[in-house]
Amino acid sequence: MITKVNPNLIMYLSKNDINNRLNEIGKQLSEKFCNECPVIIGILNGSFVFMADLIRKIDFECEIDFMKVNSYVGKETSGKVQLEKDININIKDRRVIIVEDIIDSGLTMDYLHKHISAYNPKDITIVTLLSKKNNCTLNFNIDIVGFGITSEFVVGYGLDLDQRFRQLDSLYTLEPNILA
Ligand code: IMP
Ligand code: MG
Repeated sequence: MITKVNPNLIMYLSKNDINNRLNEIGKQLSEKFCNECPVIIGILNGSFVFMADLIRKIDFECEIDFMKVNSYVGKETSGKVQLEKDININIKDRRVIIVEDIIDSGLTMDYLHKHISAYNPKDITIVTLLSKKNNCTLNFNIDIVGFGITSEFVVGYGLDLDQRFRQLDSLYTLEPNILA
């Protein structure tokens, strides 16, 4: 296992913690979207593991699409969001669920919300696995937050540091001052 060869990773949220919370989120979504068929949009790359697990916890029909955006270089945001892949499904008048891995400053989600709203969906539900405590300036609600966390950088369960560590089944922080 990679954590044995990399002592710079510190366990933050275990796969059991994550799985238990996903059961709750799946139930919440299943109540909200009972007998409906929303479009679930996963935000690549970071949300792919969360998305894959979450869609197997819901019991309503759905269509799946992905968007890809990028703003990070290493552990820092570049301050600018770039669209690398748009959705392909027509979401006009559809109910939409955005699935994101983590909201930090809120810059990315602000961009996504504006971009997706411009297609005139019926409504938008935002689900994020993690939210850092510094995005209170957003002028819309984050409907479901898996875990509110402090501001440290986390990896694993889809989240990366320069494309590494995405495959880990739990979430980890990094030893301070060590670039793993
Ligand atoms: P924001 O635009 O500042 O809210 O940053 C959101 C994006 O930055 C997320 O979609 C992630 O891709 C990335 N990100 C922010 N914090 C972390 C982290 O702690 N680990 C890995 N990626 C992160
Ligand atoms: Mg992301």
